[in-house]
Amino acid sequence: MNILLDAAAIQARVRELAAEIARDYDTGEAIHFVCVLKGGFMFMADLVRAMGPRVTLDFIAVSSYAKSTKSSGEVRLLKDLDSGLEGRNVIIVEDIVDTGLTLTYLQDILRARSPRSLRTACLLSKPSRRVVDVKVEYVGFTIDDRFVVGYGLDFGEQYRSLPYIAELEESLKAGG
Ligand code: IMP
Ligand code: MG
Repeated sequence: MNILLDAAAIQARVRELAAEIARDYDTGEAIHFVCVLKGGFMFMADLVRAMGPRVTLDFIAVSSYAKSTKSSGEVRLLKDLDSGLEGRNVIIVEDIVDTGLTLTYLQDILRARSPRSLRTACLLSKPSRRVVDVKVEYVGFTIDDRFVVGYGLDFGEQYRSLPYIAELEESLKAGG
C-alpha cells in the first residue's frame, strides 16, 4: 500500500491540533469530546492524550457506508451517547469528512441537545467530494479524492489498526 501520511506526520499534526484547541477555550473550561466510532477511535486517543486533564469523553456510533467504498447518503444511529450535552463545550471527533452527510447529521442531532458550544475536529477532509457544506473547525489534513485506510479508517473492517494512513490499492478493494 502507498503510505500517504506516516505515523510521525500524523502524531505531529495531532499535537498541533490539540494545542490549537487548548488555545481556543479559556483555561479551566472543560471540553467534552465525542468520538465517532469506530473510525475516530485512534485520533481521539491521541488527541485527548495531548490535551491534559480538562477533558471528558463519550462515544457515539453511526453507520453511513455499509460495506462499500461509496457513501449511501443514509446515516443510522447505532450507539447513542451515555450522557447529556446541555451546557457543555462539545467537540465531535471524526476520522474523515467526505460527502459531509454523516457530520451534518451528527451536528444536527447533537446541537439539538443544547451544548454550550459545538465544534468538530476531523483528521482528514476530502473537499472535492463534498455534497453538503459542513463546518469543520479543526482539520488535520486535506487529501484528494482517494480511498484511504489506517489510523482508525477501514475497508470492510480491515486496516483500522495501522499507525499510518495509506491509499487502498484497487486490487485489495476487489479482493474485498
Ligand atoms: P461522509 O458522510 O460521506 O462524509 O462519510 C464519512 C464517513 O465515510 C467517514 O466517517 C468514514 O467512515 C467513511 N469514509 C469516507 N471516506 C473514507 C475513506 O477514504 N476511507 C475510509 N472510510 C471513509
Ligand atoms: Mg466514520
